[in-house]
Amino acid sequence: MEEAVESANLQMTTISNHYFGDDDPDEPALSISIIENMKEEYGLFVWPCSVVLAEYVWQQRLRFSGASVVELGAGTSLPGLVAAKLGANVTLTDDANRLEVLDNMRRVCHLNELNCNILGLTWGVWDASVFTLSPTILLGADVLYDTSAFDDLFATVTFLLQSSPGSIFITTYHNRSGHHLIEFLMVKWGLKCVKLIDCFSFMPSQKASGLSGNLQLAEIILNTEVSS
Ligand SMILES: C[S@@+](CC[C@H](N)C(=O)[O-])C[C@H]1O[C@@H](n2cnc3c(N)ncnc32)[C@H](O)[C@@H]1O
Repeated sequence: MEEAVESANLQMTTISNHYFGDDDPDEPALSISIIENMKEEYGLFVWPCSVVLAEYVWQQRLRFSGASVVELGAGTSLPGLVAAKLGANVTLTDDANRLEVLDNMRRVCHLNELNCNILGLTWGVWDASVFTLSPTILLGADVLYDTSAFDDLFATVTFLLQSSPGSIFITTYHNRSGHHLIEFLMVKWGLKCVKLIDCFSFMPSQKASGLSGNLQLAEIILNTEVSS
């Protein structure tokens, strides 16, 4: 029985390839391979927000070389892996209870010959390891999807932004019901949005054609006017 389940899991596993830099389509500047499992949900699948955030990291590559990057709810980790390829020191994190997601991150790093740190980090939970992080850039693709988890996520984001002055949280999300809750929580946690853009404004046309929905990218920092 266990063998049958394992075999079914293997059959659902696939590798997707993601290319960046389109000057010559046959010779992309950078490529990343991701192991996905179509049977599972959430952390073992490359969500559109991740494709979009990874492209943004590539386009903003000067900010990432030498940066200290933490990706929250990284799942298959495409944006963090692009940052690592660009020379950032990257820690990929996901829910500490989702061991299969954390294992997959290790496999994906190995596949791409990248040496990222892998860490179980559950939003709103203060394990000792959280206190060792001091990111200059926080990434989060499609981490704003379950409103009951928003407060915990913002608590972790705020803590990490406070631990590293001048740091920034860059996130992509589906804007399904307006920005009201996000705006409310940013005020509550002393954060401010310094950039909010429609993701289709920067996606290359060949990548944009495979995407749909109202995808937004926000850059968020501590609102020092209220926290000082
Ligand atoms: C919609 S998936 C997005 C995954 C990946 N960032 C992407 O865009 O392809 C949400 C991710 O958040 C993680 N996650 C959900 N709740 C979490 C929590 N409370 N703490 C940490 N990670 C969480 C899930 O395990 C999953 O990897």
